[in-house]
Amino acid sequence: MTNDQYILGIETSCDETAAAVIKNGTEVVANVVASQIESHKRFGGVVPEIASRHHVEQMTVVLEETLAQANLDMEQIEAITVTEGPGLVGALLVGVNAAKALAFANSKPLVGVHHIAGHIYANRLSKEFSFPVLALVVSGGHTELILMREHGSYEIIGETRDDAAGEAYDKVARTLQLPYPGGPQIDQLAAEGKDNLQFPRAWLEEGSYDFSFSGLKSAVINKLHNAQQRGEEFKREDVAASFQASVVEVLATKTYRAAKEYNVNQVIVAGGVAANKGLRSELERQFSDQSIELLIPALHLCTDNAAMIAAAGSVAYNQGHRAGWDLNANPSLDLEAFGARKK
Ligand code: KG4
Ligand code: ZN
Repeated sequence: MTNDQYILGIETSCDETAAAVIKNGTEVVANVVASQIESHKRFGGVVPEIASRHHVEQMTVVLEETLAQANLDMEQIEAITVTEGPGLVGALLVGVNAAKALAFANSKPLVGVHHIAGHIYANRLSKEFSFPVLALVVSGGHTELILMREHGSYEIIGETRDDAAGEAYDKVARTLQLPYPGGPQIDQLAAEGKDNLQFPRAWLEEGSYDFSFSGLKSAVINKLHNAQQRGEEFKREDVAASFQASVVEVLATKTYRAAKEYNVNQVIVAGGVAANKGLRSELERQFSDQSIELLIPALHLCTDNAAMIAAAGSVAYNQGHRAGWDLNANPSLDLEAFGARKK
């Protein structure tokens, strides 16, 4: 008889159907992700109805494979955690209903998890947190600086006023006629180009930790249109490099300033855009004095997965969070309110 705690996680908020089992909050035992990117590519973005249908088709297979990989049966799982929101409502519902059915059939506790808490906790799968922690969350739907003074507590100190960083990447990529999702494509092109187009940096008011990317996106689009009208040519590589330099400089600089102001022990980076090579190296450069520890998750844990949901879920579970059988998908779930929840 061991006292190990196995937590199952389920994630279906967007276009990945995922399930995972983690042990004692920090160790990945099985992590299965069925991506739908190929199905959405030809539409240039995620089509919600297609996403829901794929989740329905994949959910059972993914769950079975996860338990097989973990070499565990449901008896040995202590709790079931699932992304409750934010995300696409029809997509979220598939995971929430699967989690409810599993929990009900096996008499297991059920815990709803905030998707962004999951992205943050992906980092705890490689290193224990040392509070206070500052998290830079950069994904397709979110750009936030979040201060954590203890496990499960989230204080938003800065956020985007318009587009999310990933959204800006995807929109600029579309303008450059690159396939979906555009972030990795721009990242790749940027490595071959020069930051020579002088795109603006949106610093906003003095002392603000908020972000804004819509002005930059418009500047890129305008530059391309003007060039087209004048018959000038631009290297796509230079557009990508100049756009990326602007995004990355603002993200890394604001993160560094906030980390110093709040005197944190660790900075963690989370979300799909944390996979960006330019962002990773600029953060490493700014934090190179090593007074503050910088954690960036392994690439496969940056994008949507269920190990991160189980990691955030196990903290919530051990703090006493429980969902009832009325658990519902909540496409606009609030992170601070999620952290403040009691049993
Ligand atoms: O966190 P995520 O997998 O899904 C959401 O919760 O939104 O993030 C997806 C976003 C997309 O916008 C994608 O273009 C972006 O992350 N992304 C990247 C890179 N890899 C993924 N953006 C820039 N550079 C990358 N290497
Ligand atoms: Zn995500």
